[in-house]
Amino acid sequence: MPKTIRFLTGITPSGTPHLGNFMGSIRPSVAASRNAGVESFYFLADYHALIKCQEPERVHRSTLEIAASWLAAGLDPQQVTFYRQSDIPEIPELHWLLTCVTGKGLLNRAHAYKAAQDKNQEAGRDLDDGVSAGLFMYPVLMAADILMFNAHKVPVGRDQIQHIEMARDMAASFNHLYGEHFTLPEAAVEDNVALLLGLDGRKMSKSYDNTIPLFSTREQLRKLIGSIVTDSRAPGEPKQVEGSALFQIYQAFATPEETAAMRRAYADGIAWGDAKQMLFERIDREIAPMRARYDDLMAHPEKVEAALQIGAKRARAIAAPFLQRLRAAVGLRGLSAVAPPAPATQKTSKAALPAFKQYREADGKFYFKLVAADGRLLLQSTGFDAPRDAGQSIARLQKEAGALQALAPLLTPVDGVPASEVEAALLALAAAQE
Ligand code: TRP
Repeated sequence: MPKTIRFLTGITPSGTPHLGNFMGSIRPSVAASRNAGVESFYFLADYHALIKCQEPERVHRSTLEIAASWLAAGLDPQQVTFYRQSDIPEIPELHWLLTCVTGKGLLNRAHAYKAAQDKNQEAGRDLDDGVSAGLFMYPVLMAADILMFNAHKVPVGRDQIQHIEMARDMAASFNHLYGEHFTLPEAAVEDNVALLLGLDGRKMSKSYDNTIPLFSTREQLRKLIGSIVTDSRAPGEPKQVEGSALFQIYQAFATPEETAAMRRAYADGIAWGDAKQMLFERIDREIAPMRARYDDLMAHPEKVEAALQIGAKRARAIAAPFLQRLRAAVGLRGLSAVAPPAPATQKTSKAALPAFKQYREADGKFYFKLVAADGRLLLQSTGFDAPRDAGQSIARLQKEAGALQALAPLLTPVDGVPASEVEAALLALAAAQE
């Protein structure tokens, strides 16, 4: 196992964060980022947002709200690499490299795509009606996010496990074709985070329209909590904690002692109005300091931007050189150093390289020669008085185009070896050193 474990997760900016997001993702992720031995990469998946949301103002606004929420909740941009996906152009480029090693059949099986097709089938429409190629490619973009940084663990909800498995498949295909470049990621599903119930008693979710925004004013928060469904038991009648959304949300925020006290209050017949007031105060106590920071960040979006730019710089310092390596691995390379066509029997590029050999002869002079990978002599030098002179000539031959001509007086051609073969050997050496 590596010494530090790299965690990476993305948040799609297509809405306003609510208490369920805070309990299920923001709070545990910020806490985890403080653990020793972990390195955290959290990012705003704004390219992903375009798949679901084609309202530019909404994507833009949501990016700000979500970034401000995470920062207000205590994310330290010095400790976490916190960035916006679209600030890292290497990600869409990697997306293409992965697209080319991904079977279309694999993507056909993605749950999100299949669900869209099933819906069309039920409605009697064409199967691909309204399905964008972006939705189809979603798992590849997600794999690029993860593999770009060689994450070990990817904290996600259960619905995303399949995507992590697909990312593993893509990493393995690429590694198989081009060498070991990618770590195979694993999903990290937190089973004991609180899944909050919403205003209507179902799971709190944007799609049910039953959420409580994480940051609203105190008054709005009080009003929304007042609208949580309860039963019709009157004050003084004992109440049940089972199935009570109010109790469930309280429990998520409260200490075990506070929860026990609330349980007794239910049994003693607390009035719903009073229970709601207690819930409001408990949540507000937790949220108020963050709300102040959030309001400040929303009033100064340039502070949020500055934090994201720190993250982008750190992320690109990793992504840019890594992508160069991947480009070279797949054959996207500059043409100034073209390796000779590899003989069919070549196993590894290391074994296939020609080499310079330096030595001293009985005449006291220093010589070098260039031998091919198969041991044949390609080039022989004349004698030098000092080893340094021989070394400098080798360095020039390896680095400078045209050095072969320039140094011709110091070199002895080998019978039957054309200059073009020597030239090709030098280029192969130069390419290997890049
Ligand atoms: N698809 C994820 C979601 O909707 C968001 C996401 C995008 C993501 N890229 C990722 C999560 C990479 C983890 C890793 O929740």
